Amino acid sequence: MGKKKYILGLVGSPRVNGNTDFLVTLILKAAAEQGCRVEKVLLSQSKISPCQACDYCKTHTTCIQGDGMQILYEKLRKADGIVLGTPAYFWQETAQTKTFIDRLYAFYDSNLRIRLKGKKRGALVFVWGESSRSAVQTLKPVVKYLEKILSRVLRVDLVGKIVDGGFPESGDVSANKPLKRKATAIGKKLARSL
Ligand SMILES: Cc1cc2nc3c(=O)[nH]c(=O)nc-3n(C[C@H](O)[C@H](O)[C@H](O)COP(=O)(O)O)c2cc1C
Repeated sequence: MGKKKYILGLVGSPRVNGNTDFLVTLILKAAAEQGCRVEKVLLSQSKISPCQACDYCKTHTTCIQGDGMQILYEKLRKADGIVLGTPAYFWQETAQTKTFIDRLYAFYDSNLRIRLKGKKRGALVFVWGESSRSAVQTLKPVVKYLEKILSRVLRVDLVGKIVDGGFPESGDVSANKPLKRKATAIGKKLARSL
């Protein structure tokens, strides 16, 4: 038997069991049922400091800061699949997610070439509170940006994404059957793509 494929889920919301957490968990659960090894990390509990722009990572292969990101660098290197989830906070990703993203600078060498090897597969979860159509338009550039981080920095080819609004309260998505089905389908597809 070959080694199980490993999928890392990152939850950028500070709300444990909130909408993002719920959807990332569903995706991971479906992937686990397909035989993958899955792991979820709550970025809000990971003690990740902001990038200090010291450029240590340009002369060394990692970041000088010995915080929670060090464990994540290792997990990200090992991951065959990555699920990134964040809600919108003031028309952007959360601060926890942005702090994590900035620390990915350590994956670039001095020539700004990405050090991560090999292609990964993944999924994006981006949810928000407002239910108006205009919110979708406003948040489109953020979706593009998050997709770019996944593809260019983490070398992830997306197999699916949940990008949806109208969930102001924690637990709103757990009552949404189509969305739950979609999350499960993405988890299955992700597992089968590895
Ligand atoms: C600080 C803060 C800022 C928010 N900003 C927005 C926003 O700009 N647009 C929006 O539609 N919802 C906004 N929301 C609502 C959240 O995106 C929404 O409740 C989401 O479902 C939370 O996901 P979670 O349960 O995973 O934390 C904001 C919530 C908080 C706490």
